[in-house]
Amino acid sequence: MKKVLVTGGAGFIGSNFVYYWLERYPEDRVICVDALTYAGNLSTLEKALQNPQFRFYKTDICDREAIYEIFRKEMPDAVVNFAAESHVDRSIDAPEIFLKTNVLGTQVLLDASRAFGVKRYHQVSTDEVYGDLPLDRPDLFFTESTPIHTSSPYSASKASADLLVLAYHRTYGLPVTVSRCSNNYGPYHFPEKLIPLMIVNCLHDKPLPVYGEGLNVRDWLYVTDHCKAIDRILCDGRVGEVYNVGGHNEMRNIDIVRLICQKLSKPESLITYVADRKGHDMRYAIDPAKISEELGWKPETSFAEGIEKTVSWYLENRSWWEPIISGEYRSYYEKMYGKA
Ligand code: NAD
Ligand code: TYD
Repeated sequence: MKKVLVTGGAGFIGSNFVYYWLERYPEDRVICVDALTYAGNLSTLEKALQNPQFRFYKTDICDREAIYEIFRKEMPDAVVNFAAESHVDRSIDAPEIFLKTNVLGTQVLLDASRAFGVKRYHQVSTDEVYGDLPLDRPDLFFTESTPIHTSSPYSASKASADLLVLAYHRTYGLPVTVSRCSNNYGPYHFPEKLIPLMIVNCLHDKPLPVYGEGLNVRDWLYVTDHCKAIDRILCDGRVGEVYNVGGHNEMRNIDIVRLICQKLSKPESLITYVADRKGHDMRYAIDPAKISEELGWKPETSFAEGIEKTVSWYLENRSWWEPIISGEYRSYYEKMYGKA
């Protein structure tokens, strides 16, 4: 692989992938396309911007003309599409932008990939396309053949994009792959999501808003393990295939929040139970047998190690998240959680 075009590279997982790729394949060129929405920050890419192998374009993936121009100029070998509206709560409040970016933006990238002969188009998807699993059936897991059964406008938009990607393979022979990963955590995670939100609120001695009873279960994976899984799929994955990515690390929300309190020596009395999310998925759990058996991928970072690294990162990188929690984020926060 020589030139990899990464969309959404100024966001959480995309930026971790940019850094991972530049370090793992120093000869490769990484071309990042990101619209810099509220979730994308150029400061996240500060170090990458000093690397001559890295190029950045502030461009919306829905802007067909601009995207075609970038493809014409850069002629990427591979495209990895991370660009998306990614927050379930925001999708419940305002679904339209989710359909625009996640579905129509994906279509523009697929068309450009066809037009410019991209050798591999990889779609970064989510386990949320499978809907949820009941809490009382710990024997059930999502496999690649679990039917799509979405709950939120976010997951419905991601599932729509997946279907379109697979249709471009079947109809036009575009060499695509899809990964469906469980919840990620780690550096550069936007503080609207559970783990960074709880860390940041703890550090400000602010209430920790837990939805419902906090019994919902997510299967947490350290972000670098996700990047490595995508690397394995890009190198050796079979085209037209979907690969589930997850680490068999199921945790209840309340247990995560308690652990964060403990790590930061904050009292559990900060925990505040708030109204549940509409249509809240109960449990996500991935069966990663396919990627493990076919591509030899396994998660390398335990949750104990990963959460330690993550909490330390937020303690050491206040200059990254402090500016982020002002401005647009502040009005979002007040709308969601009140002025606490
Ligand atoms: P994020 O919200 O942190 O980052 C998204 C990035 O996409 C931002 O930099 C934003 O500026 C950019 N973007 C948004 N709309 C754009 C547009 N129209 N054109 C160009 N850029 C645009 O998201 P994330 O958590 O890093 O997720 C990345 C991808 O991984 C998403 O596709 C998401 O569905 C998927 N995913 C996320 C998780 C998770 O736990 N975070 C798990 C599985 C899959
Ligand atoms: P989130 O990080 O938004 O990821 P997702 O909804 O994509 O899994 O939420 C993770 C879990 O944490 C989910 O069950 C909702 C819950 N949650 C809270 O309890 N309080 C919060 O303030 C947030 C943002 C999430």
